[in-house]
Amino acid sequence: MTQSILLVSPALEHEADAADYVADCFSAGEMHIHGGGAIEEFDRYRDWLAFNERNKSGDTVRPGWVPGETFFGIREHDGRIVGMINLRYSLSEYLLQTGGHVGYSVRPRERRKGYASEMLRKALEILKSKGITRALVTCDEDNPASAGTIKKNGGVLENCVWDDEDKSWTQRYWIEAIDN
Ligand SMILES: CC(C)(COP(=O)(O)OP(=O)(O)OC[C@H]1O[C@@H](n2cnc3c(N)ncnc32)[C@H](O)[C@@H]1OP(=O)(O)O)[C@@H](O)C(=O)NCCC(=O)NCCS
Repeated sequence: MTQSILLVSPALEHEADAADYVADCFSAGEMHIHGGGAIEEFDRYRDWLAFNERNKSGDTVRPGWVPGETFFGIREHDGRIVGMINLRYSLSEYLLQTGGHVGYSVRPRERRKGYASEMLRKALEILKSKGITRALVTCDEDNPASAGTIKKNGGVLENCVWDDEDKSWTQRYWIEAIDN
């Protein structure tokens, strides 16, 4: 049975587990943390916390980014970080083409347990609460794990576009919010 996952705003109390999460991804050879809100670029967790806070507002967001925020996916029963997910509250031209509204990762040893699917489901609720009822979620065409996560949340493939930055084909899926 899939364990319940909460999307939680990063706080000081998560410092040790966040470092462990980044170390686990690095050990798996993943030097860019998808959905990590650039956490891997910061030596000091507190600086990244402040950065994440600044990125929520259009006045202080990192140049070239749109306002958004990063959450930890925390497994309710033991409080461990099992994933990270980054939400963008609007689409720049780049995001519309290849980046999408959401990016995510799951801790390597915790994959294939349904956690990404659950995190994306909750992320879509947050987007909906911000007025985004049609979310764009993208993935490399050779990433069946991410494509599976998107399809399990009702993603409908619009097209596949060339990402010149990553030198790869990107699948673009749209997910319509479900009326409750
Ligand atoms: C993509 C990622 C977040 C998926 O996380 P996850 O928790 O393992 O995903 P889920 O368990 O929710 O899987 C969802 C569906 O994807 C498919 N899937 C998952 N892993 C798969 C794999 N390795 N190969 C093929 N299909 C896979 C399955 O259809 C699965 O549903 P099922 O288990 O009911 O059959 C994870 O693999 C990851 O962190 N990868 C590295 C970062 C990344 O690629 N992020 C996305 C960038 S676009």
